[in-house]
This record gives sequence, structure tokens and C-alpha cells, in this order.
Amino acid sequence: MKSDHRMTGHLSLITGASSGIGEQFAKQLAELGSDLILAARRVDRLETLAADLRKNHGVSVTCIPIDLSTPQAAKDLFAKATTGGKKITCLINNAGLGKYGSFIDFPFEDHYSTLQVNVVAPTELTYLLINHMLAHGQKSYVVQVASISAFQPVGFFSIYSATKGYLRYFSETLAFELRKTPIHMMCLCPGGTYTEFFEHSGQKITQTGKATMMTAKDVVQSSLIALFNGKTVFVPGWLNKLACFLPRLLPRNLGLYLAFKTMNRAVERVNLPSSAASPLNANSHTPSK
Ligand SMILES: NC(=O)c1ccc[n+]([C@@H]2O[C@H](COP(=O)([O-])OP(=O)(O)OC[C@H]3O[C@@H](n4cnc5c(N)ncnc54)[C@H](OP(=O)(O)O)[C@@H]3O)[C@@H](O)[C@H]2O)c1
Repeated sequence: MKSDHRMTGHLSLITGASSGIGEQFAKQLAELGSDLILAARRVDRLETLAADLRKNHGVSVTCIPIDLSTPQAAKDLFAKATTGGKKITCLINNAGLGKYGSFIDFPFEDHYSTLQVNVVAPTELTYLLINHMLAHGQKSYVVQVASISAFQPVGFFSIYSATKGYLRYFSETLAFELRKTPIHMMCLCPGGTYTEFFEHSGQKITQTGKATMMTAKDVVQSSLIALFNGKTVFVPGWLNKLACFLPRLLPRNLGLYLAFKTMNRAVERVNLPSSAASPLNANSHTPSK
């Protein structure tokens, strides 16, 4: 089911719009009439998408190439996105990545980039955009794209799970702070979604994974309905809702073990980091007593 809430007159800034969930947000917000600013590193992809959306929906689309892993990125993106007095009324903080494997097997620079893209950039963009939205005073929306790992962290996805947990707490508390303003904030917590994410994180989707994952299109369709209905935290899909609820009933260690086992049924680990024989190797994991 699609949202019929019109977004004509709105201007939406979407990070990570070059593929997957971000690309779907761009398509579906354009369909609802919103003008767009698309940001990511792969600007060729953004330009192809932008041409398609201008042609099919008559909306204005600006593409901004940006690497959100660099410290100045959020400020640069905000400055470029608001040039000429543009008023942004919707921010989709979607860009994100994760490295699957033992914490100590990756160079720390990889973790630093993940923290920068998944935590620092969305936090700074939120700060800048909320000030901007309060100043123009129009009805506005902010979506933080977290994950179901914000409810149940997954072993060998330590930094990723922690960043998504951060986003959920940040988003929930800020939604509360902003409740009497024209800004509505929602934290979107998807489960496994069929996108390029796994390729980039060093995983390959198994047949079980393919059968249970949602499409980015379905995730975004249900998210937009939830957003316009005023939800502050939204988990798309009943299987994902169950995966968020069940751990509340379990001891923490058992939750971690089951999350790890479930993940291993849905994806296989590829391009193992150099120290595959590490004592923390994912393949030799058993739950602690
Ligand atoms: N797929 C899933 O199962 C799943 C589940 C839960 C949550 N999520 C979350 O959903 C969001 C979107 O992921 P996806 O599944 O759509 O994966 P995806 O297809 O890999 O998209 C990730 C997006 O983030 C952008 N990005 C990554 N690093 C960046 C950087 N340094 N600077 C700027 N942009 C960067 C990528 O653009 P460029 O490479 O062009 O820069 C891309 O557009 C992420 O936050 C992810 O954590 C995904």
C-alpha cells in the first residue's frame, strides 16, 4: 500500500540516494511531489536517477557529490544544499555502512569511517537542519535510518550495531524534544533488506536470506505511511517486528547468540579480513555461559 500524502512544495534532502533504500526514498518522495536534493559519492548514479525523476514526476532534483566519512562533510553538504535560500523540509539521514567480522580484524580506519558516516554525519546534519527548519517554520520531517540491530545487536557487527543503537536513542529522545515544534522525527529500523549493503559489508545473501528479506521498495512504502501517521520509531515487516520484540523476553547472551545464528542463515561472510584464524573468528563462535 502506498501513501497518498502529498509532498508538493516540500524539498527533501536524502543522503545515500545512489542505491537501495535511499534511492527508493528518492523515487517515492518524487512520486508524492517533493523536490529533491540527492547526496552520495557515486554522482553518476545520482545524475541518472535525477534525470529519470525530473522526466517522470516533473520535480526539481539537485545532486551533490559528497563523502560523508570526512569530518567537514556535513557542513559542506548543508552549505551546498541550502545555497540560494533553499528551504529544506525533509531530511532522510540514510547513508550508512557496516563491516561484518571481528572488531580487531579490521584496520581502525574502517571503524572510524563507519562511525563518521553512521553517527557523526547524521548527528551534525540533524543539528544543522533542525535549526534551519525551526527558522523557516514550515512543517518538516526528519528520518534517521537505523536498523533492527538497534533493538538486538548482532555479534561480529559490533560497530554497526552500536551506531544503529545510538541512532535509535538519539532519534527517540529528539522526537520527544521536538514534539511541540513543526518538525516530526522518526527512526526507521529495517531488518534484512535486499540491497547492495551486503556486498559492501563483506557478506553474500543466502537462499534463506533472499526468501526472508524485504525489498527496499516495500520498506520505504511502509515507512512513508508510518512517517505521515506520526510514528516516532518504525520497524517495517512482521518478521522484523518479532525480531525486535522477542529479545526482550530472553537473557542478553541468548539474544546475542540467536541474532548471530539468524544472521548466519541469511548471509555468508565473504572477503574475510586478513586474520581469518583470529580467536574471535565468527565461525568458531559459541555463546558464553
Ligand atoms: N540492507 C539492509 O539489510 C539494511 C538493514 C537495516 C538498515 N539498513 C540501513 O539502510 C541504510 C541504507 O542502506 P542500503 O541497504 O540501501 O545499502 P546500500 O544500497 O549499500 O546504500 C548505502 C548508501 O549509503 C551511501 N554511502 C555509503 N558510504 C558513504 C559515504 N562515505 N559518503 C556518502 N554516502 C555514503 C552509498 O552511496 P555511495 O556509495 O554512492 O557513496 C549508498 O547510497 C543504511 O544506513 C543501512 O545501515 C540496511
